[in-house]
Amino acid sequence: MKKLSLITFILLMAMNLFSQTTQTQVKDLVSKMTLEEKVGQMTQVTFDVIGKPENENDGFPVDMKKLETAILTYHVGSILNTPYNKAQTVETWNKIISTVQDVSKKTRLQIPVLYGIDAIHGTTYTRGGTLFPQAINMGATFNPELSRAAGAVTAREMKASGMTWNFYPVLDIGRQPLWSRFWETYGEDVHVAAVHGTAYIDGHQGSDYSKPDKAPTCMKHYTGYGFPLNGKDRTPAWIGEKTLREIYLPSFEAAIKAGSPTIMINSGEIDGIPGHANYHLLTEILRDELKFEGIAVSDWEDIVRLYARDKVAASPEEAVKMAVMAGVDMSMVPYNFSFYDILLKLAKNGDVPMSRIDEAVSRILKVKIESGLLRDPYPQKQLISQFANKEATELNLAAARESIVLAKNENQVLPLKKDAKILVTGPTANLLQVLNGGWTVTWQGDDEPLYPQEKQTVLEAVQAASKGTVTYVEGTTFNQSVNIQEAVTKAALNDVILLCLGEKAYCETPGNIENLTLDQAQLDLASALLATGKPVILVLLEGRPRVITPIAEKAQAVVVAMRPGMEGAVALADILFGNYNPDAKLPFSYPRNTNGFSTYDYKPLEVYDGNVVNPLYPFGHGLSYTTFELSGLTLGKKEIKPGEGLEVSVTVKNTGTRAGKESVLIYLNDQAAQVSRPVKQLKAFKKVALAPGESQVVKFKLTDADFSYIGLKNHRIVEPGKFTVFSGTLKDEFTLLP
Ligand code: BGC
Repeated sequence: MKKLSLITFILLMAMNLFSQTTQTQVKDLVSKMTLEEKVGQMTQVTFDVIGKPENENDGFPVDMKKLETAILTYHVGSILNTPYNKAQTVETWNKIISTVQDVSKKTRLQIPVLYGIDAIHGTTYTRGGTLFPQAINMGATFNPELSRAAGAVTAREMKASGMTWNFYPVLDIGRQPLWSRFWETYGEDVHVAAVHGTAYIDGHQGSDYSKPDKAPTCMKHYTGYGFPLNGKDRTPAWIGEKTLREIYLPSFEAAIKAGSPTIMINSGEIDGIPGHANYHLLTEILRDELKFEGIAVSDWEDIVRLYARDKVAASPEEAVKMAVMAGVDMSMVPYNFSFYDILLKLAKNGDVPMSRIDEAVSRILKVKIESGLLRDPYPQKQLISQFANKEATELNLAAARESIVLAKNENQVLPLKKDAKILVTGPTANLLQVLNGGWTVTWQGDDEPLYPQEKQTVLEAVQAASKGTVTYVEGTTFNQSVNIQEAVTKAALNDVILLCLGEKAYCETPGNIENLTLDQAQLDLASALLATGKPVILVLLEGRPRVITPIAEKAQAVVVAMRPGMEGAVALADILFGNYNPDAKLPFSYPRNTNGFSTYDYKPLEVYDGNVVNPLYPFGHGLSYTTFELSGLTLGKKEIKPGEGLEVSVTVKNTGTRAGKESVLIYLNDQAAQVSRPVKQLKAFKKVALAPGESQVVKFKLTDADFSYIGLKNHRIVEPGKFTVFSGTLKDEFTLLP
């Protein structure tokens, strides 16, 4: 014990010393910097600003003159994005980053550039990188170890390429199924988002993100971005402060505690206040309350938009002043140096105080130092041998397998017999983009020819796994019939129909839709095939839950595969043929109707006086090829004192004939409170692997934080009273004493 506390003491001292040296280094640098150099550090430009036009690219996309202008004349502190909006080879990236940092070495103080990239489900913009299931799938695994491991691989592959800063994880909450970035979230539950987000940060950064294979993360998009009222990207959200604090802040709060040193701001607006002008959120809450000390970076062009779009600023000058004074430290300008010119003028005139500039620059320098950039700003080429290696691909496949939800399996139509005669049809059957979605190789992720052709589509993976015959008919594109009749004719010659529907890849505003119902052409294909009487296995590769109720009710099986990543088709085939026993659960409520967007944590009045909540598949739903039984929900005590916490245990038994994994979910309901409380809220979960007949007691510890909520005065409070604990159909009560 003594030994342990001595080690802890030495460690704490070392950490303290380290942060003191960082602080001294920051102070020293800031004291030597000119105003121009400081304003430059706060400026971030996109690659286009330093790049050659695509048709003039002679093998190396950087324009040296432009690069020198950016770094030597404008002193820019950060660059983002990829040339020509396309993934580049590791070698090209190594050359780009080395060239950029060589120029940064020519600056007076030799401050390296912080190069940022959206490596959102892996190294998006490095060719051949390991591209994991998207966040909505990671949420479905209920296995945060997979997010931790994916974070570690992503950081390593980014650092092998040469980039330092990852604009990830997305900590928005997916409670608006129309939103075109729904799939970028871990789903509708704030606890799931916090658990996966912090695990990812831990894997990506480790305990020291200056290590060669580690890198800083950027939480985004702070906050409330994910809940636009009309479902369209970058449109108004109306979120009261209580709900904001209850649902949209905790994932960021957890990520700040987990040590993410940077945060990107919400591109939209809440209650008429654009994210980038919101002093209350950016300073009073983020800094004063949550004690965040890192960089607040704007999203794309969003400072300009305070004037150009939102008209909350009367001029570009006012927009810059407003954002910087609200708390934005770095502007993703990104196409020019306007922010630099304007901020310089504002600072010279005293319209933005030097203290604010110094504060922002200090935060930026601190992250640069803590990232190890001042020691070594160059690509970590020694990691290239591990780039997309066998272990990373196996991890990716494991994650994909755990992320695909079996939502319906009537008469055990699945798993398929290996020698079954299968008709594969539908617009998502033979494309790689539908497995991956946006931020894959390109921003929209829909440039199919650029995908690594050695990876398998669903059709190819089914062909590879099948010992029978596989016939393919396209049927429809996403929204137009191609040869529905041919699909119907071929169906008669087969045992089973694998109907692959869903959405093309998309992201942000281009992914906006007018209607959540699946496109008519696809519904027509489904109806025609269902009418043949052959069993239909409906596979959904989609970024949000498109409404499919009539066809889902008639299909024998429904597999909600969402965006399972580059190994997703292999994982899906493993599940279809029974080589893997599915164990994912929906991290969102799959709507039955376009007016039925309730989340699982709905309020009592949503089911009162004739109101109903009736999703097609509820949050937490997911079938297996075996069966599990929960029993013996046990509470450590029936009465607990504040601060004491509550032990909860549940026995889970595999009552079927196959080995499998089951996630045990623990929910809580506060029986009476100052404000209306959800009927239940997820507080803990654990996934366990069980052989047939095996059982395990799964233990949890709930704390005061789990019993707390945002009260009438918009602060988090813990009140004495009765609570109900639920797991599956089991429930029990306890009292929290005063
Ligand atoms: C997105 C961000 C992204 C940024 C940089 C924006 O359009 O909203 O999520 O990090 O672009 O690419």
